[in-house]
Amino acid sequence: MDFKDSTPDALATDLDPARQADGATRNMDALIIKGGRKLAGRVEISGAKNAALPLMAATLLAPGVHTLRNVPLLSDTRTMAKVLEILGARVEFRGHTCKIDTSTITSLEAPYDLVRTMRASIYVLGPLLARFGAARVSLPGGCAWGPRPVNLHLEGLGAMNAALDIEHGYIVGKDVKLKGTTFRFEVVSVGATAQLMMAATLAEGTTVLENVAFEPDITELGADLVQCGARIEGLGSRRLVIHGVRELKPLDTSIIPDRIEAATFLGAAAITGGSITIERCDSGHVAAVVHKLEEAGCDVLPGNREVTITGPARLGAVDVVTEPYPGFPTDMQAQMMALCSVADGRSTITDTIYQDRFTHVPELARLGCDIRLDGNVAVVTGVPHLQGAQVMATDIRASAALVLAALAAEGETRISRIYHLDRGYEALDQKLQQLGADVERIRE
Ligand code: UD1
Repeated sequence: MDFKDSTPDALATDLDPARQADGATRNMDALIIKGGRKLAGRVEISGAKNAALPLMAATLLAPGVHTLRNVPLLSDTRTMAKVLEILGARVEFRGHTCKIDTSTITSLEAPYDLVRTMRASIYVLGPLLARFGAARVSLPGGCAWGPRPVNLHLEGLGAMNAALDIEHGYIVGKDVKLKGTTFRFEVVSVGATAQLMMAATLAEGTTVLENVAFEPDITELGADLVQCGARIEGLGSRRLVIHGVRELKPLDTSIIPDRIEAATFLGAAAITGGSITIERCDSGHVAAVVHKLEEAGCDVLPGNREVTITGPARLGAVDVVTEPYPGFPTDMQAQMMALCSVADGRSTITDTIYQDRFTHVPELARLGCDIRLDGNVAVVTGVPHLQGAQVMATDIRASAALVLAALAAEGETRISRIYHLDRGYEALDQKLQQLGADVERIRE
């Protein structure tokens, strides 16, 4: 892998996940944030992590040189590049353009040390089985906020005629010839939808997938595969019909803007009572978040591929329930909790996607947030002011919630272990500085 020229300073530190996994080095940067500044100005949103990762894996479906533009420079996209390289692909970054040559695949094994650092590595399973008829991919294991099963990936591929075994912690498929089937997801799953959609493009016959996810990242993946020759009907709906084809052409696409990054910046303006314009943002993709922010008293003005938001002097309380797209995203639950913590009144936040996704609660409490957990419901009683403190990032979105709370808190907050943040936000500290926030990255 070759990240050339434009690696931002924020990523200049050693984020190589393989070395992190070894424990040889670990990016132990921290953020120091002095709160109380209202954000102002314009910020540009990077490409979507959750669109880039399945698309990078999808390059395995077709031999040749694939071109992905607007790829966010994140430790997660580096990890996916590493996974592809271990399989024998040649990956080259020039700025945000990533060229992946998958005509040189020599291995069909995604090893534990990489998969455990990033669960999305499992996306290579379907494409490997579809193109090569075999794969050996590590099970991802646990996650900071509880179990995240992959049974739907395995059941769906099984229904498509892939006899998969679990051997020594690895998912193993041999002599697989994928065949079309009808498969209904018992719960809406982003990951499993992407997995089966990719696999079905090269399966023999027609696959019908019911109760699928249609997050913009998924719809984009499908649309890009169609550009490569896949035959997919129903994109943007809960039912996909995929007619298998014999081969696909290489991808040539540009990654859509990251709706969660955009929504996080909306939150940053809202919590500081600031006014900012978010460029390269599809307002339709953040509609559920905008709706809640308006309910909390923000003024939101969608423009042409941009959104302007002005926060009120004090936010109002809101009730939020996470749901599959187009509902309120689980990936904004933690950030919304930070906002509710300083709102006038009592809010409730219910996560229906991941019932245990609350590792940010004790850290937010250190900043003075008043949050009571009752199962998958957080009852948040807004306080007039938060106070800076030392806190620890625990996962990508939990870290973002701490950043938002710190921007509103009186005094200095030190957020350690921000390698979590670097997995999902490109140069967040620099973008916040540009908006007038007092943010500094230090090496601990
Ligand atoms: C989920 C989010 C996605 C977010 C990501 C990371 C949804 C629908 N998905 O995607 O927006 O970016 O987390 O935060 O909001 N499940 C199973 N078996 C499986 C796969 C999933 O039971 O094989 C369950 C999960 O436990 C969860 C639900 O399905 O309750 C949705 O999971 P899924 O969408 O697959 O998770 P991610 O792809 O990680």
